[in-house]
Amino acid sequence: MSSRPEPWWRSAVIYQVYVRSFADANGDGVGDLAGIRSRLDYLKELGVDAIWLNPFYPSPQADAGYDVADYRDVDARFGSLDDFDGLLRDCHRLGLRVIIDLVPNHTSSEHPWFRAALAAAPRTGERARYIFRDGRGPGGANAPNNWQSTFGGPAWTPVNGADGSPGQWYLHLFAPEQPDLDWTNPEVRTEFESILRFWLDRGVDGFRIDVAHGLAKDPAMPDLGRGFATSGPAKVGHPYWDQDEVHEVYRAWRRISDGYPGDRTFVAEAWVHAPEQLARYVRPDELHTAFNFGFLLAPWSARALRQAIDQSLGALGSVGAPATWVLSNHDVMRHVSRYGGGDVGVRRARAAALLMLALPGGAYVYQGEELGLPEVIDLPDEVRQDPAFFRTKGKHRGRDGCRVPLPWSGEAPPFGFGPPASKPWLPQPPDWSSLTVEHESIDKGSMLALYRRALQLRRELPGLGDGMLEWIEAPPEVLAFRRESGFVCVVNVGETPADPPAEVAGCEMVLTSAALTGKRLPAATSAWYYGRSKPSATNR
Ligand code: GLC
Repeated sequence: MSSRPEPWWRSAVIYQVYVRSFADANGDGVGDLAGIRSRLDYLKELGVDAIWLNPFYPSPQADAGYDVADYRDVDARFGSLDDFDGLLRDCHRLGLRVIIDLVPNHTSSEHPWFRAALAAAPRTGERARYIFRDGRGPGGANAPNNWQSTFGGPAWTPVNGADGSPGQWYLHLFAPEQPDLDWTNPEVRTEFESILRFWLDRGVDGFRIDVAHGLAKDPAMPDLGRGFATSGPAKVGHPYWDQDEVHEVYRAWRRISDGYPGDRTFVAEAWVHAPEQLARYVRPDELHTAFNFGFLLAPWSARALRQAIDQSLGALGSVGAPATWVLSNHDVMRHVSRYGGGDVGVRRARAAALLMLALPGGAYVYQGEELGLPEVIDLPDEVRQDPAFFRTKGKHRGRDGCRVPLPWSGEAPPFGFGPPASKPWLPQPPDWSSLTVEHESIDKGSMLALYRRALQLRRELPGLGDGMLEWIEAPPEVLAFRRESGFVCVVNVGETPADPPAEVAGCEMVLTSAALTGKRLPAATSAWYYGRSKPSATNR
């Protein structure tokens, strides 16, 4: 076993708690911090190392809390600062670390700063914290440029002067209730450094940086040219995503986190096109890790998955950063459905879980993926809450379908999410009774059983987590690689059964995502093998 001391975040499996949908202690239909506290044993037993909490700050909830009105408090819907401190204490007692979500690209339009900006005249200090510009055309009646909101519609909203006359426009790359901050303003930088310290002083183990690729905009504010998309992974040269100036912000933050004991960490949400662009966020003096969306976006194809893995490991390795694998989160269709849905989707999701957890680096598990929850695609329009749904007039169904509250127990909604008579903020499908934690805990063949076992093995077997990967020659639809200490992962991504490579002959098979046929891996099946000696030494 390697005796090299490595910081925890290089190998950690981090469970994403989508606070409003995890567990509802007070019965108002919305998950809360007390609910999380009551379910920590579940997370401990699952075997994760840490949790990431989506935003719980005071917020009008125009974008499910990504519109923050006060960065130093807890929204009453979710609890109080005392509840947060209690949760942090409980987690630490159980050996779970806690990462919180920092939203630096924009505030809520209800943030005191933005209210002051609206009340102030153009070109004042109050306005200078945000991005206000004069409109184009006669009387400034047109938006300053053609930028579009990620959620649909223009990225600019006009405001009136104090006397009601047409005034300036402000930029919001997301909803109008999420005005973008101006990161060229030192006051903004100082404020966020102080916010970081506020939570670091309370003891958090790290931050997930929301829209980490968005903070700096091209000062010339040119129109968005052809070939550049409003959302999705950004290409080099985009005028508002992935501008060079963001990196200076992260260098300053790294200096702050390095000043605290205990390996505090950052994970970047940076939707960029090339792995080389992503690698720049995790240079040694910047953020520690960044979500690997190339892997998440890869279709179920051996070639695509291998390419995503190779490119990430290559680019991140060149700056000494570990990869951070992710299959689902609160912004994308759940991967059971993305991989085809139904039995096929579940089968592939099981295989994908063993692939992800065998890869070098860390991994994120989005709440409910360990239960194999599918995307809920038939939510009625009346219950939808995602601004993306409203701003595109329903053209984009939005992200509510991956945010449906967790089913914990019982035969009918609310499935233990909240007290018996409570009504979850999004309706749960009545047929989720077979997907509850309670149900899956007693079913040895469940997705939950697979995740528990895989996470247990990941802790016990040497050579998993951070480290090397070496590909083993295999048929085109099969991915096979070895890790240190003789661990081998084989994934049959194809539609027909496949033999494992000869290398595994002397190894013990320790886990499979589906029953093998003899030694053969059926379609969409992963298997983990472990041999005492390096398999290549004996079988090549
Ligand atoms: C990130 C969040 C997403 C949010 C957006 C705006 O992409 O993950 O949920 O809507 O930022 O803050």
